[in-house]
Amino acid sequence: MTKSFSVFADAIIMPDAYILGIESSCDETGAAVVGSGQRILSNVVASQISTHQPYGGVVPELASREHLRAIVPVVRTALSEAGQTYQSVDAIAVTQGPGLAGALLVGISFAKALAFALEKPLIAVNHLEGHIHAVLLEQRQNEQRQSENGDLHFPVLALVVSGGHTHLYLAEVQENLWTYRNIGHTRDDAAGEAFDKVAKLLALGYPGGPIIDRLAPHGDPHAVKFQMAQIKHRDRRDYKQGDRFQGGLLQGDHEQARAEDGRPHFDFSYSGIKTAVLRYVETEKLKPAIETRRQALARQIPTGKDKLALEEIRGLCDRQTLNLVASFQRTMVNDLVMKTLAAAREYDVQTLFVSGGVAANRELRAAFEREAGIEGLPVFFPSRALSTDNAAMIAAAAFPKFVRREFVAMDFSAEAGMRLR
Ligand code: KG4
Ligand code: ZN
Repeated sequence: MTKSFSVFADAIIMPDAYILGIESSCDETGAAVVGSGQRILSNVVASQISTHQPYGGVVPELASREHLRAIVPVVRTALSEAGQTYQSVDAIAVTQGPGLAGALLVGISFAKALAFALEKPLIAVNHLEGHIHAVLLEQRQNEQRQSENGDLHFPVLALVVSGGHTHLYLAEVQENLWTYRNIGHTRDDAAGEAFDKVAKLLALGYPGGPIIDRLAPHGDPHAVKFQMAQIKHRDRRDYKQGDRFQGGLLQGDHEQARAEDGRPHFDFSYSGIKTAVLRYVETEKLKPAIETRRQALARQIPTGKDKLALEEIRGLCDRQTLNLVASFQRTMVNDLVMKTLAAAREYDVQTLFVSGGVAANRELRAAFEREAGIEGLPVFFPSRALSTDNAAMIAAAAFPKFVRREFVAMDFSAEAGMRLR
């Protein structure tokens, strides 16, 4: 059944509400002011890439320390860039989870202190809902620019694909109440995690996704054949979102998972391809070249330069490595696109959203546009800047809750494995 709503109907009759959003779930400290869930007045992100780069992954203790350092200046800058003050904003919104518990607590403690001192309402936002609302936020801005009819067709299928998550949600909204149903998730590594681990293995730098994205066009995507896991087994574990942060691997060995209505789940699995890349490196004897790149990367760190320029990395990659990178990306993109489109057909959705850090990937965007276009399915992405973690998406997701007066009490806490419903 096709339903269409103007998602921001209430916003039009309400006076503007300015929400200060705060995001600290992983390795970016973000603060933003968004007007009525649709106008970005400011969006400040302090990245911790240089802190975690030497380790090739996020170190939780370092992440918390960096959030503590950044939170006050980032919030101040977001307010001043927006022409707002602590007193002038209408509500404070903060990411509750999923994410790193210690990192989340920095944002939450600060948001609570502000809300308490300023006597402002406090709104808790699920980070995954934030990624979904990043699409809506820009969708709405574009509609204003084009002054077109702002209706979206439901149900929407949202693929949230990032360093910590690979989830498919059916999303519905009624009177500003958003509900989500998970119809697929990764059984092991998230897609972004696979990009990061393969880049680490090949000594291409950190984070791996953006580097692989830019190297892949220089290789042959058909050179190396990877077999993607076909998920035929039930997920036996009680899966919790944010599991990457708890270091768990998921196992399964029964029949395919089905929802209560008997429809299939569309699950992903990305740990196998990482192992296949490792095997390829060993059999093709790529280790000496990897070691040379690793040393070149290590030499940058004491100079304060946190990464090599793309041309420098490319210069350190032979044709076989570029082919491997291109083939890896092509396989990942095909799997994400094909499974998402299969789910879209099964659930007869009207619109696709693709969001999260991996949604910044150029080949993924092009493939979704091409393949969804063939099926006549509209597909929306956030801009590349709003695909990765930021606080504007948190402030935007908070707006329907603000309209519904869905505020949290001061005793709410971080939920590292928070689910989205
Ligand atoms: O959404 P995000 O900023 O943080 C999480 O919620 O995890 O996503 C970060 C992830 C990292 O794994 C990063 O490598 C990946 O998104 N990523 C990309 C690209 N840009 C970021 N992956 C593929 N291609 C990109 N252009
Ligand atoms: Zn994220």
